[in-house]
Amino acid sequence: MADGRIVGLISGKGGVGKTTLTVNLGIALQQREKEVTIVDADFSASNLGVYLGRYDHPVKIQDVLHGNAETESAIFRHPTGIKALTSSNEINKVEPETSSLRDILTEASKESDYVLVDCPPGLNKTVESIIDACDELMIVTMPTQTAGINAAQIIEKCKEMQQPILGTVINKVEDEPDKELVEREVEMMTESHILGQIPYDAEMKESLFENTPLVLFNEYSEAAIEIQKLAASLEGGKYEPPKFAKFKRGLRNIKRNISK
Ligand SMILES: Nc1ncnc2c1ncn2[C@@H]1O[C@H](COP(=O)(O)OP(=O)(O)O)[C@@H](O)[C@H]1O
Ligand SMILES: [Mg+2]
Repeated sequence: MADGRIVGLISGKGGVGKTTLTVNLGIALQQREKEVTIVDADFSASNLGVYLGRYDHPVKIQDVLHGNAETESAIFRHPTGIKALTSSNEINKVEPETSSLRDILTEASKESDYVLVDCPPGLNKTVESIIDACDELMIVTMPTQTAGINAAQIIEKCKEMQQPILGTVINKVEDEPDKELVEREVEMMTESHILGQIPYDAEMKESLFENTPLVLFNEYSEAAIEIQKLAASLEGGKYEPPKFAKFKRGLRNIKRNISK
């Protein structure tokens, strides 16, 4: 297997949906027969394991970064089929030494088609070292001024560091042009290619509560479909939405309302 692509999901602003997208995009790629490893590089708010359904593994990325464990022993196979490398919640491990991160990601990429790296918010030395360790960056933002400004800052930094930018994903789109930025505005603000738009989806919260990533919780939901489309476009392929998705979504909503 040729080395896989190391893609960092980064935003500048927190809370835009990086971790959610890392997990769901990873599963969507895996459903396309790709071998995927997702990596938690958000050391100070490490919650990738929680988004994987409160999944834990004793060997964390900090153990590898500090030379106390091999990359191989820290990567585990999650029941969904994707592999993961999670981060510690211990407060004294929030600022690990990151000089070996590139080597760890490269090693993970030898056994994967994709290594998706869940990046921290902000812009500091740690974030810079993570940007540097990735092959390419996927910007995640929301249709708000603040998220757009922070995304533009991160993009500027990536350009300054000559790191390739895949494009920007706009998440939590509510389709209310009076209250939020539209695609063209985000495109102008960030001067980047828009890779996709994911709607705001109330089931995202519910799927987290149910410990099941959305693409598995409800593959017919609009957000899941957009994430699957994004996975297909990364692969250079076209996505065929499931037949009667709208009808099945409606039916599901009726059933859920009845059972409430
Ligand atoms: N498309 C979406 N629709 C609705 N809620 C979402 C969506 N994407 C993410 N969320 C919610 O937003 C919150 C922040 O998401 P998270 O992935 O933790 O952001 P980040 O990793 O960028 O800080 C979570 O509660 C998550 O369930
Ligand atoms: Mg996160």
